[in-house]
Amino acid sequence: MMTDKFQPMEEIKMLVDNQQMRPIWFDGEKKIARVIDQRMLPHKLVIADLNTVDDVIYAIQEMFVRGAPLIGATGAFGVYTALLQNQTCTSEDLVRECNRLKSARPTAVNLAWGVDRVLEACLNVNVPADRLNAARNEALAIVEDEAENCRQIGLHGLSIIQEISRKKGGAPVNILTHCNAGWLACIEYGTATAPMYTAFDQKIDIHVWVDETRPLNQGSRLTAWELGKHGINHTIITDNAGGHLMQHGMVDLVIVGTDRTTRSGDVANKIGTYLKALAAKDNNLPFYVALPSSTIDWEIDNGITDIPIEERDPEEIQYVQGLDQAGNLVKVLVPPLSSPAANHAFDVTPARLVTGLITERGICRATREDILALFPEKRAT
Ligand code: MRU
Repeated sequence: MMTDKFQPMEEIKMLVDNQQMRPIWFDGEKKIARVIDQRMLPHKLVIADLNTVDDVIYAIQEMFVRGAPLIGATGAFGVYTALLQNQTCTSEDLVRECNRLKSARPTAVNLAWGVDRVLEACLNVNVPADRLNAARNEALAIVEDEAENCRQIGLHGLSIIQEISRKKGGAPVNILTHCNAGWLACIEYGTATAPMYTAFDQKIDIHVWVDETRPLNQGSRLTAWELGKHGINHTIITDNAGGHLMQHGMVDLVIVGTDRTTRSGDVANKIGTYLKALAAKDNNLPFYVALPSSTIDWEIDNGITDIPIEERDPEEIQYVQGLDQAGNLVKVLVPPLSSPAANHAFDVTPARLVTGLITERGICRATREDILALFPEKRAT
């Protein structure tokens, strides 16, 4: 996979074709999708080219791209990439490549959703060039749809923050978020962050507690960087600090994203989310989950038994990863290597601990009936 050279982040104009950079975009000249290699953020902007299906799978598995909606969009471009590599491939070959793409990471349902949506749009197109175009156009449509979904989530979620701000007489609303469910994870706005951006843009005083400092520092690296770029007050905390802050009245609201939500409202998200939800419940605080409908798995009810939880390489917790002065990715060993380590990447928060789901169609309780009331076309599935 081709990558660009090191450039310090602050000097980068975050623009592609004169538009605000997104974590994935289609390069019309190269005729391929390109992505930000998020492993290098926030200190280095590296762009990776997705030339082959293997590049796409590698980018998803190694977490150049991560976050449920972005994984879905990348998988969608993966189908286009498969056709680009072999324009005259048979339907069977294409389906095989799609299955490979879908198995790149197990937890975020958006991956299979994105791949299947593009496959459906192009599978029965007979002329190879038209099939390729159909795949590209559908992948582009997914990118635009997800950006718009996040914008809508921001508008709906705003009401929750507005209400708390009003009750506090305009004093800062303290929001806790876990991991990164921002624009880096979702094309634009983010899911969990969209209401924060909307509230901030409307001059509501907010402050965000940012965690996921382990296993991958997705909060302290990515969410903190995003919020800082937007000028939003925020503080990085350790993953274990949330309960303490809640007990001392320093949190008004929790908003997180999700990788897969069951049709009954159980929520899989980055490991540690469940503990935040338990602490929020114990402290009588609202715990909201923001998601586009592409993250709902309409086929399962019980998240604890039915959502596959990814177990990643224990090296990710044995070593802390960062950049050295020269901008090289380096790993520092922390525990004794003779001690076994286990790296469960996600957990499931049962629906009973979720105050509400913020979707592109509005806010609902985390129950099957309320979710279906927002998405009645799914009643038949
Ligand atoms: O392991 P990651 O970085 O892919 O995990 C990301 C998360 O857990 C996000 O919170 C989730 O994907 C929601 S992104 C809108």
